[in-house]
Amino acid sequence: MAENIKNNKADPVDQVSQENKETVEVPSASKATEAANVQENKQKDTQQPDFSKGFNAKIIVVTSGKGGVGKTTSSAAISSGLAMLGHKTVVIDFDVGLRNLDLVMGCERRVVFDFVNVIKNECTLNQALIKDKNCPNLYILPASQTRDKDALNKAGVARVLHELDESGFEYIICDSPAGIETGALMALYFADIAIVTTNPEVSSVRDSDRIIGILDSKSRRAEFGLEPIKPYLLLTRYSPSRVQAQEMLSKDDVVDLLSIELIGVIPESQSVLKASNAGKPIIHDKESDAGQAYMDTVNRILGHKVDFRFLEVEKKNFFRRLFGM
Ligand SMILES: Nc1ncnc2c1ncn2[C@@H]1O[C@H](COP(=O)(O)OP(=O)(O)OP(=O)(O)O)[C@@H](O)[C@H]1O
Ligand SMILES: [Mg+2]
Repeated sequence: MAENIKNNKADPVDQVSQENKETVEVPSASKATEAANVQENKQKDTQQPDFSKGFNAKIIVVTSGKGGVGKTTSSAAISSGLAMLGHKTVVIDFDVGLRNLDLVMGCERRVVFDFVNVIKNECTLNQALIKDKNCPNLYILPASQTRDKDALNKAGVARVLHELDESGFEYIICDSPAGIETGALMALYFADIAIVTTNPEVSSVRDSDRIIGILDSKSRRAEFGLEPIKPYLLLTRYSPSRVQAQEMLSKDDVVDLLSIELIGVIPESQSVLKASNAGKPIIHDKESDAGQAYMDTVNRILGHKVDFRFLEVEKKNFFRRLFGM
């Protein structure tokens, strides 16, 4: 999956001070440049966009249909993992009105401009991108808090994605909102790969099935008769003990029902909530099962063969049984 990756372009993002966004005013010389860029983008927007034009970057949508299944948690972990392994990555929050990714990434206090500002030419891409505090190769494009759910449009999203592509990003991760409305459709339209995030329960599986159908019919690839988006199943919040108690579907049940390739199984873990509250994606917690399972998933995305773990009920050792731990 990691073919066609370019890694050798200058980094325009570094032109703007990302670290001190709360306090630093953009100097007037660069203000003039930014204004010129905005003007240029406005002109581009009046031209008829060509959506058939492909990207060098791999565009990955993290999607689900059903809400609250772990898309944002997974987007944060996967983008961080790719960056930790040396790939220049950007993660975009498509959840207009309900942004959360900035919290999970711990950069909420550094948000000045957002994705919709860039689309509406109210700022440049460089002004809106936030450099991640943990990974030098990672940038975040936060969502807007506007109530206008239709603020995203195909032409604007295409322009931003092409600009990211030309800046040398290798991976563009799109954190989709729940549902099948504008934000979700925009998040998946340009994707090459879909991470279909699913919990082991019937309603989540049904919504994932619906979204797989939409990937096949409503994407850029479908529209132009290109090779379809490759969907992968990411099973999240998996609890082997609840599977054993028949309270949850098993991994094999979900794979059978959805008939797509499994890319990861992330165990249910209290460490995930702790990581979110601390604003540090769970993949940085190398001790936790969930963090390790996400790193396995990232390695599979990169094309490595990695055995699945955390699928069986952990056998308690003698002392833990003795003391009821
Ligand atoms: N593996 C896990 N173990 C325990 N809790 C988890 C796990 N994955 C996600 N969660 C929790 O589930 C909740 C929802 O996660 P998240 O916000 O990532 O879902 P989402 O699919 O992005 O939601 P939405 O559809 O609202 O955007 C959060 O409280 C998160 O901490
Ligand atoms: Mg989310």
